Amino acid sequence: MSHHLLEGKKGVIFGALDEKSIAWKIAMKAYDEGARFTLSNTPVAIRYGEIGALSEKCQSEVIPADATSMEDLTRVFTRSMQFLGGKVDFVLHSIGMSLNVRKHRDYDDLDYDFFQKTLDISALSFHKMLQVAKKLDAINNWGSVLALSYVAAQRTLAGYNDMADAKALLESIARSFGYIYGREKQIRINTISQSPTRTTAGSGIKGIDGLLDFTDRMSPLGNATADECADFSVVLFSDLSRKVTMQNIYHDGGFSSMAMSMKAMTQYNKCLEEEENL
Ligand SMILES: NC(=O)c1ccc[n+]([C@@H]2O[C@H](COP(=O)([O-])OP(=O)(O)OC[C@H]3O[C@@H](n4cnc5c(N)ncnc54)[C@H](O)[C@@H]3O)[C@@H](O)[C@H]2O)c1
Repeated sequence: MSHHLLEGKKGVIFGALDEKSIAWKIAMKAYDEGARFTLSNTPVAIRYGEIGALSEKCQSEVIPADATSMEDLTRVFTRSMQFLGGKVDFVLHSIGMSLNVRKHRDYDDLDYDFFQKTLDISALSFHKMLQVAKKLDAINNWGSVLALSYVAAQRTLAGYNDMADAKALLESIARSFGYIYGREKQIRINTISQSPTRTTAGSGIKGIDGLLDFTDRMSPLGNATADECADFSVVLFSDLSRKVTMQNIYHDGGFSSMAMSMKAMTQYNKCLEEEENL
């Protein structure tokens, strides 16, 4: 059911790869809520992913870009303003990648070229996006910019590797840039810290099945799905959240405030009993 929350709003959505992508769900929801937007991803992702189908469904246009390239980002915002007939009201950064994770390099044995790529792709790209948008004056006053983060930015999580550092930087950029963009243009910048979610990037997390089960048992409301993340994102893009900025907002069913739940404790005790009976 549409609430017309984004009627008349225009945006740019980065990071939809396939139907599982969080950005895909956000794009579908934004479209249902009345928004018009462009989509962007890397040339490789466009070739191998399904973004073309999403673009057709949403009457959008796909603009190829490596989000680490200032030149590519300039093209995305310039073309978006042409396609949409003016400045945009919202931007979604839904981008993450670590070659250290992909190549199974442990945190105490990182490849530093990979590490720099992790930071560039997963965090600095957010700063670059904001800097390009600001220089082009591409976002309307009272616009909303959102990036997706994860609790490993604040709490150590086995296996999340250098992505934890990238997320910490991403959240810091939201605060630092949020101050300047807020002060000058009333543009708000936030990050959503989402539950673990089974997507292409999410499946790269070591032990994702156990992690999903654990966080679900730990969270009083259970894990937040990608569809629920889309619901929350459109509220943050809408005029209903005009004074929320420079925040990292947990969208995780309560997980981040828990230390131990009955459900997780029960499961843990079962494992202990099994071990004792071996
Ligand atoms: N899945 C989870 O468990 C989870 C939890 C919390 C936060 N997040 C975050 O959500 C965001 C979206 O991830 P997802 O889970 O939907 O997975 P996904 O794999 O569908 O999306 C990641 C996207 O990043 C894009 N990307 C990679 N390198 C890029 C580059 N150089 N330039 C432009 N785009 C590039 C990929 O093509 C892909 O579309 C990421 O920031 C991720 O860290 C995911």
